Amino acid sequence: MFDVNAIRADFPILSRQVNGQPLTYLDSGASAQKPQVVIDAITKAYSEEYANVHRGLHYLSNLATDKYENVRQVVAKFLNAGHEDEIVFTSGTTEGINLVAYSWAMENLQPGDEIVLSVLEHHANIVPWNFLRERQGVVLKWVDCAADGSLDPQAVIDAMGPKTKLVAVTQMSNVTGTRVDVKTICHAAREKGIATLIDGSQGAVHGPVDVQDIGCDFYPITGHKLYGPSGSGAIYIRAERQAEMRPFMGGGDMIDTVTKDAVTYAKPPLKFEAGTPGIVQTIGMGVALDYLMQIGMENVAAYEAKLAAYASEKLQNLNWLNVQGTAPGKGAIFSFTMEGAHPHDISTVLDKKGVAVRAGSHCAMPLMQHLGVTATCRASFAMYNTTEEVDRLVEALELCREFFG
Ligand SMILES: Cc1ncc(COP(=O)(O)O)c(C=O)c1O
Repeated sequence: MFDVNAIRADFPILSRQVNGQPLTYLDSGASAQKPQVVIDAITKAYSEEYANVHRGLHYLSNLATDKYENVRQVVAKFLNAGHEDEIVFTSGTTEGINLVAYSWAMENLQPGDEIVLSVLEHHANIVPWNFLRERQGVVLKWVDCAADGSLDPQAVIDAMGPKTKLVAVTQMSNVTGTRVDVKTICHAAREKGIATLIDGSQGAVHGPVDVQDIGCDFYPITGHKLYGPSGSGAIYIRAERQAEMRPFMGGGDMIDTVTKDAVTYAKPPLKFEAGTPGIVQTIGMGVALDYLMQIGMENVAAYEAKLAAYASEKLQNLNWLNVQGTAPGKGAIFSFTMEGAHPHDISTVLDKKGVAVRAGSHCAMPLMQHLGVTATCRASFAMYNTTEEVDRLVEALELCREFFG
């Protein structure tokens, strides 16, 4: 049984006050708060179990290596990957996508080859492909979303031509909460021999993920949005694609032998992990994913669906509020604007009431341009938020309306 009050009690920061008001944290889309189990795991790792991994033969190094390497199985289980060797640790989604750009795309794409992107993408799933456009003459093909923010999978499939080598789309928009039917897209791409990268930064937080069922080649996640430490992350890379990749960064840990004249590389996944990694961050991410699996991602999804429906209705009742994106089945992420008030000013007023939201372009400028806005305010909900907090957001927005209206 999903008990939101029990979950809230696991997150110490949620009981603090901000500006003399109870904290209403609606910025989990940027970064989620951490449960006590993660905080304790970080403290324990540093105070009792810390050493560098993979390198030593002493007790603590072996212990830290076991704890760190064990997280690969945890991530594989969380994503339902076929094998833990298909999991590469990163510092987050941004590094994961850059890894694919440098290690796979730069090796396998020729001038004139195409990458299909949607207008919903975060800059992390745009800028690395722009590098290929600048450096290798790769062509970026964009697919627009509909007025309600939804992305028609058929439009993405129709954009796949004979020169398309990669489709890179998000599973959930960080601006509108739109969910994308990535399975239909990936299965169509697989039939055409086109590789697929699904940005799981938001999607993995809000419901169960099965990368084998989706049928994607690359699926990056970011630990700090999954209630784990910042600087942690992972990417699922299907074994067949690993065989097509060269290493991204060079250094310690990713080699087999080094002589003055030649270098041979370790087998994946270590081949793609150079240097001392985020040891404690990764261990903390493993604890966060175990915590989520104990709660059950289906339960998280069911609870958040109710919260999203409640928030949608309440926000729609504010007829002076312009909510961006109303696609059916969207997640609990709401971007909005208000006539006569800049999003930064709205967020400042909300903050005075203890309501933390984000304002700006949310690293999604092409989407902002498509929506015809320069910035929005974004309230992004997580499994620890409540309907009372939706009410507090609405009250604070009504105050804004009085203030600026
Ligand atoms: C959809 C999406 N993709 C990618 C990222 C980048 O994640 P990170 O900054 O953790 O690498 C984010 C973060 O906001 C995101 O929301």
